[in-house]
Amino acid sequence: MAEFVTVKEAIKLLQNGDVVAIPTETVYGLAGNALDERAVSKIFKAKNRPSFDPLIVHGHSVSSLKRVAEFNELAIALFEKFAPGPITIVLPKKHVVSDLVTSGHQTVAVRIPNHSLTLELLEKGDLLLAAPSANPFGFTSPTSAEHVNAQLGQRISGILDGGNCTVGVESTIVDLSGENPVVLRLGGLSYEDLEEVLGPIPIQTSSSKPNAPGMLISHYNPGVRIHSCTSAEDALNKAQNAGTKSGLLWLGEEPGLGENVHLLNLSEHKDDAEAARNLFAHLRRFGALNIKEVFVFELPNEGLFRAINDRLKRASAKTNHHD
Ligand code: TXA
Ligand code: MG
Repeated sequence: MAEFVTVKEAIKLLQNGDVVAIPTETVYGLAGNALDERAVSKIFKAKNRPSFDPLIVHGHSVSSLKRVAEFNELAIALFEKFAPGPITIVLPKKHVVSDLVTSGHQTVAVRIPNHSLTLELLEKGDLLLAAPSANPFGFTSPTSAEHVNAQLGQRISGILDGGNCTVGVESTIVDLSGENPVVLRLGGLSYEDLEEVLGPIPIQTSSSKPNAPGMLISHYNPGVRIHSCTSAEDALNKAQNAGTKSGLLWLGEEPGLGENVHLLNLSEHKDDAEAARNLFAHLRRFGALNIKEVFVFELPNEGLFRAINDRLKRASAKTNHHD
């Protein structure tokens, strides 16, 4: 198991080229000094992550991120409005950034995470941190220090425990490196919030696009088989008729259930932020309960429900392909 470390100890480890798990408002990150190739390669190794999947660079301010990215006015406006917060912006990279971080792309993804411990770490250590989500490649992102420890504890130097993540899904990624803005990943900042600043913009999140190679359809394998159903009723019926003990990922007021169904509610009051906070922990709970089949349905296409629908779609795509 990895050691739980203080901010001061984390700074020391990171400055020394080691890899430390850090809390953010979205999910835990597996951090290394973004300007140290040795540290960056340790991240890929610990996660078993393919080298074609680039990393996000985290900084405490726009001025610190200007060391690695060419900012434009729109990027500054977006960060002024939403950072620190769950938004990542893709911009042209500066020479100092190694190809290892960007997987050879001429762009770099940058973000200012909204967590007091990590902001303190970035500022006091004068650090820029490359950090993917702190899970083995292809698995559910961790939203607590315990999640990190369970999956990667043996492979990292330390964990900075910052409690449960307050947002619960990864950051929204916007590409501002081309002529027009494009959303590359739906996440913790709602599309509606983005739209207020950028106007309507295309969402280009689905599978294997070369400019977002991490957005593979088979991401987020939660270790259970996820079945996407057409409606809440459909999911309820299928869960009840599954034969074995099955899981039902629910939203809203709870229906009466047979003994064979284990229901986990994302949010009884249909609150999208609460649902996002619960999503990954609920998927892990099903796994811990040894429930193999989980029935889910599409949530309203609005707010953070969009990001949840996206993660569930990816999780079900994966599990439908494998027995
Ligand atoms: O909320 C988050 O963003 C979390 C926390 C730890 O900050 N990080 C995270 O990192 O989700 P990761 O590595 O799991 O996902 C980053 C995504 C990948 O899909 C990657 O392909 C994409 O960002 N990405 C990184 N650099 C890119 C670039 N230059 N162009 C396009 N996509 C990029
Ligand atoms: Mg990830």
